Amino acid sequence: MRHRLRRTRVRLTLTYVTAFAAMAGLAGVAFWLAFAHFEYAAVDSGLAAQARLISGGLNVGNGQVNFRGDTPLPGETKRGIAIAALLVSRVGKIIDQSGNGAGSSALVRATRAGPPPGTPFNLPVAGRSDRVLVLPVAGGQALLVLAQPIGQLQQTLATTAILLVTIVVGLIVSNAVLGYWVAGRALRPVRVMAATARDISEHDLGRRLRLELPPGDELGELGATFDAMLARLETAFDGLRRFTADAAHELRAPLTLMRTQLEVTLRHDRTPEDYRASHRVVLGEIEHLSRMTEQLLLLARADAGSLVVQRLPVEPGAFVEEVVSRWQPLATQHGVHLGAHVSPGGVMLGDRDLLRRCLDNLVDNALRHTPSGGHVVVVSALEGPWWTLTVDDTGPGVDPALRPHLFERFARADPARTPHKGGAGLGLSLCHAIAVAHGGGIALAASARGARFVVHLPTTPSAAPSQARAAPGS
Ligand SMILES: Nc1ncnc2c1ncn2[C@@H]1O[C@H](COP(=O)(O)OP(=O)(O)OP(=O)(O)O)[C@@H](O)[C@H]1O
Ligand SMILES: [Mg+2]
Repeated sequence: MRHRLRRTRVRLTLTYVTAFAAMAGLAGVAFWLAFAHFEYAAVDSGLAAQARLISGGLNVGNGQVNFRGDTPLPGETKRGIAIAALLVSRVGKIIDQSGNGAGSSALVRATRAGPPPGTPFNLPVAGRSDRVLVLPVAGGQALLVLAQPIGQLQQTLATTAILLVTIVVGLIVSNAVLGYWVAGRALRPVRVMAATARDISEHDLGRRLRLELPPGDELGELGATFDAMLARLETAFDGLRRFTADAAHELRAPLTLMRTQLEVTLRHDRTPEDYRASHRVVLGEIEHLSRMTEQLLLLARADAGSLVVQRLPVEPGAFVEEVVSRWQPLATQHGVHLGAHVSPGGVMLGDRDLLRRCLDNLVDNALRHTPSGGHVVVVSALEGPWWTLTVDDTGPGVDPALRPHLFERFARADPARTPHKGGAGLGLSLCHAIAVAHGGGIALAASARGARFVVHLPTTPSAAPSQARAAPGS
């Protein structure tokens, strides 16, 4: 029972019904009181009119009071309503009375025990109930007592009260049923949401509530938010699944290569030169594997928000010169002209190791995609609160089909996925994660020829919050 009472539907209904019952009860009582008041007022005004009529006909002489020369007091009004009348002396003696005088002793007692004269009151008289008015007449020498039977009136009031109670109770019950039904209907979307949330597993995240509620409906908004959350979860799970599958694939390829290489080598006795060549192949694959696992580890840390960025002063000019000089021998080997343009001055706060990783990948990509005789230029410049690092090359440019997914993990132009020609497709996503961790971003900028990657990094930590404004690709 307690459990049921805790249900929102029951609580809503109870609150509504309690408020309604209080209002309906009050309205019923007020109606009954007003009705009784008007009914009694009509009786009282009839008594007062009769009292005026009788007192106007009283004669006083020789200490005697009589009505129109000893005419019996009238027993009904001009309209024919029966009203018993009694003229009582100051000592309680009946001077005159209408009708057969039934109940006259009770009326005489009421002149002494009742409320002050002039105030009508109810009195049980001879087995019935009367409305009684006592008034001093004849200059205070006598009391006029008028009594009108009100059994009928009291019966009407009792019937009205029963009717009102029946109506109010009926309304409360029907409102309770209606309220319970309405609350149930209004809360149905919540039940649907709860049932869907209960049933959903990571395999059917494609399910949606699709509540059809009018625009602006609060529960509709909640449902839409729930659907949007499911959509985000679905995207995240899909990404995770793809990522795991791609990672497994990428890790399996070099392992297979190494295994084959070793199996072939061990099949016969080899010359030392053959063994050296075989080991070199295996070493190359191990380097590739360790680079990739390192990249994956960094990306996982970035995902978990635990990529620690050490904000130390970095002098952009010296930093770019250092990276370019490291890549110079390889550029020369490929016949590519590698150069740097650095605007003087400026210091930024950043993580030198992470930034080096990012720039290394951009230069590595550029050198790999630029044919012999081409140019690769690294430009460092200050643009307002941003320090931009641009890597420009004269290669074929990024495959247009790849551009929408360029910064996603394992995104590569080559569908055959041959790690020996390129990398695993993790470099740019790592650049993106590093730039974002610094409060900046990375983007593929428009270029007349080749590819142009621009990294935006805030020069001071205070510039970082405006990243959404100025950090494209973040
Ligand atoms: N300068 C560029 N010119 C043309 N295409 C590029 C350039 N840089 C990157 N790309 C394309 O973007 C893809 C993703 O680059 P990314 O650096 O993420 O991966 P990768 O270089 O293939 O491997 P990794 O960097 O993990 O060793 C590349 O495979 C290539 O197709
Ligand atoms: Mg790369």
